[in-house]
Amino acid sequence: MAKIIVTREIPEVGLSLLREANHEVIVAPHDRVLEKQELLEIVQGADAVLSLLTDTIDSEVFDAAGNQLKIVSNYAVGFNNIDLDEAKKRGITITNTPEVLSDAVAEFALALMLAISKRVVEADKFVRENQFKGWAPQLFLGTELDGKILGIVGTGRIGSLFAEKAHRGLKMSVIYHDIQKNEILENTLEAVQTPLDNLLEIADVISVHVPLNEHTHHLLNKEKLSKIKKSAYLINTSRGPVIDENALYEILKEEKIAGAALDVFENEPELTQGLAELDNVIVTPHIASGTIDTRNEMATIAAQNIINVLNGEDPQFQIV
Ligand code: DGY
Repeated sequence: MAKIIVTREIPEVGLSLLREANHEVIVAPHDRVLEKQELLEIVQGADAVLSLLTDTIDSEVFDAAGNQLKIVSNYAVGFNNIDLDEAKKRGITITNTPEVLSDAVAEFALALMLAISKRVVEADKFVRENQFKGWAPQLFLGTELDGKILGIVGTGRIGSLFAEKAHRGLKMSVIYHDIQKNEILENTLEAVQTPLDNLLEIADVISVHVPLNEHTHHLLNKEKLSKIKKSAYLINTSRGPVIDENALYEILKEEKIAGAALDVFENEPELTQGLAELDNVIVTPHIASGTIDTRNEMATIAAQNIINVLNGEDPQFQIV
């Protein structure tokens, strides 16, 4: 019987799978992110850890767990919270849960794009605050997206799906920036690859879908953000640190772009001071993948990855 530590409550379907495989499953007793010390204590003697993107998994955690640790199964597609080099050195398998959340996140990016360009959140607040005094010709004028240019930064699974939904549903034309050519997008959506600077200069909506790593940290820094058109919107459902949030705040405050819709932040759960007070911003609490189906599937995959590794089999989604 192996000892499996789950760092926070996840959907029951994943926990049941682990228990049915006759493992000892210990779920952290607090429904919150563990303090580092709590994490170090709870992982002691674990054969497997099911971690969340909010857990920093580094050499201290590996040391605290002990040499018997075989796998850290991250309940997320992103894995910037894990020291992969250290895991590799120690022969610890790291897995993630891609694919099952692509549709949910792409739909959420679509929701954010529509909401910011139609000023849905601002208008909702206006009505709730009892400011609606009747129809008016200039009330909350928004922007139409039909035929506009969507610039996708990072055309992995999620970026590609979002491009497809926007192109087919809203007839947006798609340009993209990626280190690789995306022939499928080019053939199916007539998408055009372009350097990042050009994308930022011409897109009407820019949506960020790159993983966070040393190459993408502050990919959209002050200089890059200053290239965005005054009429354009910026959407981020990937990772906060890809954008210099302070620089973005300044640009939004001075209305140098039309708006931003952000599901992720540079220092979650903190936001740059003043950001949430701006009318041209929508802020949501990192929930893009948060549908019942997706979270159940993520739990199933995260659990199955552990079961496979403990059985000496290959996990479905291995990073190292
Ligand atoms: C992920 O899986 O990386 C997402 O950010 C979770 O919503």
